Amino acid sequence: MKHLLKLGDLSTDEILGILSLADQLKYEKKHGIAHPRLAGKTLGMIFTKSSTRTRVSFEVGMYQLGGSALFLSNRDIQLGRGEPIKDTARVLSRYCDGIMIRTFAQADVEDLAKYGSIPIINGLTDYAHPCQVLADLQTIREYKHTLKGLKFCFVGDGNNMANSLIVGCLKVGMDVAIACPDAYRPDAEIVKWAYSTSRFTMTPDIPTAAKDADVLYTDVWASMGQEEEAAIRRQAFAGYQINDAVMAVAKPDAMVLHCLPAHREEEITEKVFEAHANEIFDEAENRLHAQKAVLVKVMGR
Ligand code: CP
Ligand code: NVA
Repeated sequence: MKHLLKLGDLSTDEILGILSLADQLKYEKKHGIAHPRLAGKTLGMIFTKSSTRTRVSFEVGMYQLGGSALFLSNRDIQLGRGEPIKDTARVLSRYCDGIMIRTFAQADVEDLAKYGSIPIINGLTDYAHPCQVLADLQTIREYKHTLKGLKFCFVGDGNNMANSLIVGCLKVGMDVAIACPDAYRPDAEIVKWAYSTSRFTMTPDIPTAAKDADVLYTDVWASMGQEEEAAIRRQAFAGYQINDAVMAVAKPDAMVLHCLPAHREEEITEKVFEAHANEIFDEAENRLHAQKAVLVKVMGR
């Protein structure tokens, strides 16, 4: 595995291999076993959007692996003043051993990989959030002890999270149901591929999608970069919320996940969020372990 640009590029075995290594690295961390698999290596981290989890987990993760990480804010590096991504790629390739990037266009992530000569990791674009979904799958497997055959239901915007969850969950053998307004469907090509698996459904009707779900998932109504659409989106997504009524149609032992940050009383009620806080914060923790596995896979040796 050379890069992590999107989950569609990975085979099922590659995804499961990352999850196994993530479990192993989590075990080593919990038991105080040093694991300097990336000693002497440096990760450049380009951010053109805000971040709490992604920034901190990658930085801490590199440190725990014996390497180091550089926080490169768009406000500080020349990229933010118009230096082309293809030049940035070639320069950083001379200093760093890998680049993690969070930005708007998926094309920028693909271009970094095209023009650079070091591994590139997608830390979120408008199209995908593969690192989050690897942590989500690790968390689901911890709680449910399996992935294959589980019913996964996403409620809300057909955004980067929905796109990556559809691909990741279907690739590991889960059934996926999406509840979203017709005007806010996930990426058309991903949806087309998803239907071809015969384990995918999409509907505007939340109870239909959530019925007998093992895992319920939601995300904000307005993503980073969509702040100006917030008012219109609040109307479009009214009712697209994980609440007691949705929990009542899911399996009694259904788990609830959220990539965070969460907007309480919008996509999820405070009550449901707090009832499932253990799962949600284990999920946040697993960003660290899953990403360390990705880092070792692409930057190791
Ligand atoms: N879930 C997630 O990616 O969080 P941050 O935006 O804080 O990195
Ligand atoms: N869909 C959200 C995810 C944040 C982790 C966003 O892009 O802002």
